[in-house]
Amino acid sequence: MASLRLLDLRCCRERLATIASWHQLEWQQQDLSERTRQLTTHLETEAIPTTLVALSGDCAVGSVSLVRYQRLGGYPASVWLANMYVVPELRLKGVGSRLVAGAEAEAARQGVEKLFLYTHDQENYYKKLGWHSLRQHRLAGRPATIMTRTLDEARNQKACG
Ligand SMILES: CC(C)(COP(=O)(O)OP(=O)(O)OC[C@H]1O[C@@H](n2cnc3c(N)ncnc32)[C@H](O)[C@@H]1OP(=O)(O)O)[C@@H](O)C(=O)NCCC(=O)NCCS
Repeated sequence: MASLRLLDLRCCRERLATIASWHQLEWQQQDLSERTRQLTTHLETEAIPTTLVALSGDCAVGSVSLVRYQRLGGYPASVWLANMYVVPELRLKGVGSRLVAGAEAEAARQGVEKLFLYTHDQENYYKKLGWHSLRQHRLAGRPATIMTRTLDEARNQKACG
């Protein structure tokens, strides 16, 4: 694999259509136009919502987003890690770990102290990366595990530039 770097989607907007199509294929509950519309909102301000893109050489190979949900799973307004995706041919090579670490660093840089996520089938993966399971909840029509990670201030690098 060529050297890996993470870029804020605001710095590589031309990748948006590719990323929206990954998400639509992986999570089919929303159509492509809705996925595209949602990702476009990640370009509008410097703050969350934010999407990071993993690039191997000039090839987009993964994504992760930080989004704010008002009351997901009964939790008060908080920032959630979402849209975690690595292209099938580059899985198990550390791209996902880099994306999670990059999202955590970006969240910490934006003043977030605690992140949440939900997963239907990757609880063990996130546990391996230091996340803790909070509880089971039905989300997007299926059982899911809600997980959390407290961020320390040391991880504080900007992804863009
Ligand atoms: C989940 C996903 C993002 C993982 O990305 P990845 O790049 O393959 O993961 P990494 O290479 O960073 O894996 C890091 C470590 O976790 C392990 N791991 C990977 N998938 C795992 C799983 N499902 N369960 C437990 N451990 C797992 C790897 O073996 C690796 O271990 P090591 O450090 O001992 O070698 C990727 O499989 C994916 O895109 N899946 C489809 C979309 C999806 O399910 N997204 C998550 C939605 S919540």
